[in-house]
Amino acid sequence: MNQLDEYLASNKQRYESELAELLRIPSVSADSTHRADVAKAAEWVADQFRRMKLEVEVVPTAGHPIVVAESPPVEGAPTVLVYGHYDVQPPDPLEKWISPPFEPTVRDGNIYARGATDDKGQMLTHVKSAEAWIETAGKLPLQLKFLIEGEEEVGSANLDKFIAANKQRLACDVVVISDTSQFAAGQPAITYGLRGIAYYELRLKGPDRDLHSGTFGGAVANPANALVTMLSALIDASGTVDLPGFYEDVEPLTAREREAFAKLPFDEKAFMEKIGVSDLYGEVGYSTLERRWGRPTYDICGLTSGYQGEGAKTVLPATATGKFSFRLVPEQDPKKITAALKARLTELCPPGIEMELAEFHGGRGIVVPLDSPYVAAAEQAIEDGFGTRPVFMREGGSIPIVSTFRELLGVDTLLLGWGLDDDNTHSPNEKLCLADFHRGIKSSAHLWQHLGELK
Ligand code: BES
Ligand code: ZN
Repeated sequence: MNQLDEYLASNKQRYESELAELLRIPSVSADSTHRADVAKAAEWVADQFRRMKLEVEVVPTAGHPIVVAESPPVEGAPTVLVYGHYDVQPPDPLEKWISPPFEPTVRDGNIYARGATDDKGQMLTHVKSAEAWIETAGKLPLQLKFLIEGEEEVGSANLDKFIAANKQRLACDVVVISDTSQFAAGQPAITYGLRGIAYYELRLKGPDRDLHSGTFGGAVANPANALVTMLSALIDASGTVDLPGFYEDVEPLTAREREAFAKLPFDEKAFMEKIGVSDLYGEVGYSTLERRWGRPTYDICGLTSGYQGEGAKTVLPATATGKFSFRLVPEQDPKKITAALKARLTELCPPGIEMELAEFHGGRGIVVPLDSPYVAAAEQAIEDGFGTRPVFMREGGSIPIVSTFRELLGVDTLLLGWGLDDDNTHSPNEKLCLADFHRGIKSSAHLWQHLGELK
């Protein structure tokens, strides 16, 4: 491993400039005006694999392309599928960025740009580690298959279909994903659970135009009033979701898990300071980590209705729209929740209002077993790269494809996050710590070694 480690150390500068190159491509998957940029990012990733002489295909889809690459099989060693995404969230609000989102800038050892941590920087660690093996040893110690998509941030609709149609081609022993975070700076982690998601938009329509609220107020149902009433009826003051059957399939946190969470060095005060709140709030009876990682939640994500300009306008709006999501835990089923939600909202909808419920992404939560040799190999690799043994944690965010890998390919995923929870994922001033980027590359390079020794 010495030669490999030396190679990694002497290529740091190049890795950083290559990351900056990828970050300069504004591959915003949600925005159709960026379609060509998304394609350009796919080609950039494919080029990396071509240079490494892997078998590469850029697969067109109804949406954005999927980049698939693979190295030759290695007798007696496992096959690992690396998943990542080259698409990014929209950079808005632009005026809040200190340096422009697609002009990567280094400040205090961090590289700032949209996609720095989510997921271009993290994904690239596995590409560079594979490249380092090929450059130093001439080949990898195991077979790697790369599956890098461009629609993660918009729900991975076409990836599910691709996986279903290419099970043989994607067959592997374990999946590796770096698209999560460390527990804290200097404390790397292996994430063994992710929440699922069920996301909706409720559209309410009342009168056929905005009305004078004095002349008509009291005579007809107001869609804005109806929206807030309906949406607030879905949760009570103790933070419990009020939807029939919602908790029926929830796998409770085990006593052992609650104990383990409580032992983690979670600094509640520092957490509050980081996000600028004076207190924390959520479901009664659970600690903050339990509420974030192991309990289902309900959050309104956006509300639109009525007059938004300066001053007052006495108007009864014709329409009202709300976007909201439930974060789910195993074994909750997004489809079952949709059915219960539709029924409940129909009950709550006042007369004179037409209601439409649009369903966006849905995905199940997952918990992966920790007693596998793959996890032990990852623990060792992270210790090699970071100089510290990882802790085990869960995450509140979602990577719905992880449950697809379980269902369609029958394999578990190693979630090895190199990010930090203050990386401003989906927010202005997204960043990645460059030292962690390099530690991630080193951990990944060692992971191929340790996993290669299994089987
Ligand atoms: N990298 C995140 C997932 C994530 C977020 C992991 C926070 C750990 C902590 C991923 O790119 C993401 O944002 N996923 C979406 C999924 C959704 C669009 C279906 C999410 O969680 O909102
Ligand atoms: Zn991501």
